[in-house]
Amino acid sequence: MGNQSFDLEIGDIKFKNPVVLSAMGGINDSNFINQHANKAGLAFLGGYSIDQKTKDASKKIINRGREEFILDSPLDEILSEISNIKTGNAIGVNLRSTTLDPILDIASVFYSKKIVLELDAHCRQKEIVDVGAGEALLSDIKKLTYWIKKIKETGVVLSIKFRVNIIDDINFVKAVENAGVDIIHVDAMIPDEGSDLDALKKIRDITDLTIIGNNSITDFNTAKEMLSRGCDFISVARGVAENPSLISELVDDITQFQEELGWYNSPKHLCSGKGDLRSLTFCCVPVKPCALLYKLKKLGLAPQDFVEIKKEFGKGTMLEYGDSTCFGSLLWCCKISKPCFLRDGVLDLLELSPQEYMTLKKERGCQKLWGCKA
Ligand SMILES: Cc1cc2nc3c(=O)[nH]c(=O)nc-3n(C[C@H](O)[C@H](O)[C@H](O)COP(=O)(O)O)c2cc1C
Ligand code: SF4
Ligand code: SF4
Repeated sequence: MGNQSFDLEIGDIKFKNPVVLSAMGGINDSNFINQHANKAGLAFLGGYSIDQKTKDASKKIINRGREEFILDSPLDEILSEISNIKTGNAIGVNLRSTTLDPILDIASVFYSKKIVLELDAHCRQKEIVDVGAGEALLSDIKKLTYWIKKIKETGVVLSIKFRVNIIDDINFVKAVENAGVDIIHVDAMIPDEGSDLDALKKIRDITDLTIIGNNSITDFNTAKEMLSRGCDFISVARGVAENPSLISELVDDITQFQEELGWYNSPKHLCSGKGDLRSLTFCCVPVKPCALLYKLKKLGLAPQDFVEIKKEFGKGTMLEYGDSTCFGSLLWCCKISKPCFLRDGVLDLLELSPQEYMTLKKERGCQKLWGCKA
């Protein structure tokens, strides 16, 4: 049985797949979304500058030759853009502002229309930062968390977009999670070097928030690397300009991967050094010195506690079977992507498909037991 459903839902917004068009000021309008993102699970319009100071900053940016959207009446013009989008998929809007009130006016309308509001704490254009918007918001976490609380009072689904390694990512994510944000849209940029996958893994390990991973995704392989660090979604921007069918290709490939594997963002094994906490669902009985012992120590778990926890989560499921495997049951078995005739023989006997095995590992895995998100 294939598992085609991505089961992606936040508040009352459903997402058909985990592929996102990331904001590009001056580029992402309704026409661009209709043409290049019609299969995306979520497409962001904008970014839009919505208060006087950021609007003036956008004009200055245009004067030096970079594309930007200029809106006289932001809410009306954004709603008009939204009504031109024919994809039927979820829509988000990326907003820049130096003050809270214009965001609040828009937030309550977005709530009623099931539009994701994305607060841009990411833009590095000098003119935007100089007036105190975009990345400048990261310099005052107290103000930012106050904004988040007020925006969330409207009920809107709220995303915050930021770049890693600007401030302490872990403290920042904990602060915005406590304030009530729903989504963190994480640009994992390493200057001139692609993306910081380790930063994403570390963020996954400390939060249950929905994560959109971003930067330098150009194909299925780069997308898969990010998904395996625990991102729920991946987003693309420049790649779409280079390859207009990128989103369509990613949706097809990731959907096929989900159908074949049953867990499209399954973690790497812990021993690879790239596995987030979710990877404990594939770990062995802790009997030898390996990365697991170090991880358990960090979690404050004795090896025997870990054994009991895993036994508990496998109780009453097919994972209890598998005498002929290394550790006596499928509970301790590896990811389906690791070839193993012992495990596969047991799956055949149990008439359990690879997808069902992976789904069990995900659902009965570590999420509730040691606080990480499957
Ligand atoms: C032309 C252009 C305009 C952008 N405008 C915005 C914006 O308004 N708001 C925002 O949050 N990010 C903006 N971004 C950043 C992208 O959304 C994305 O985070 C970044 O390009 C890295 O992803 P990529 O490697 O897929 O391009 C822009 C990027 C480009 C190339
Ligand atoms: S327990 Fe097994 S899978 Fe986990 S880190 Fe050790 S060797 Fe790797
Ligand atoms: S039987 Fe195969 S899948 Fe199971 S733990 Fe051993 S090597 Fe891994």
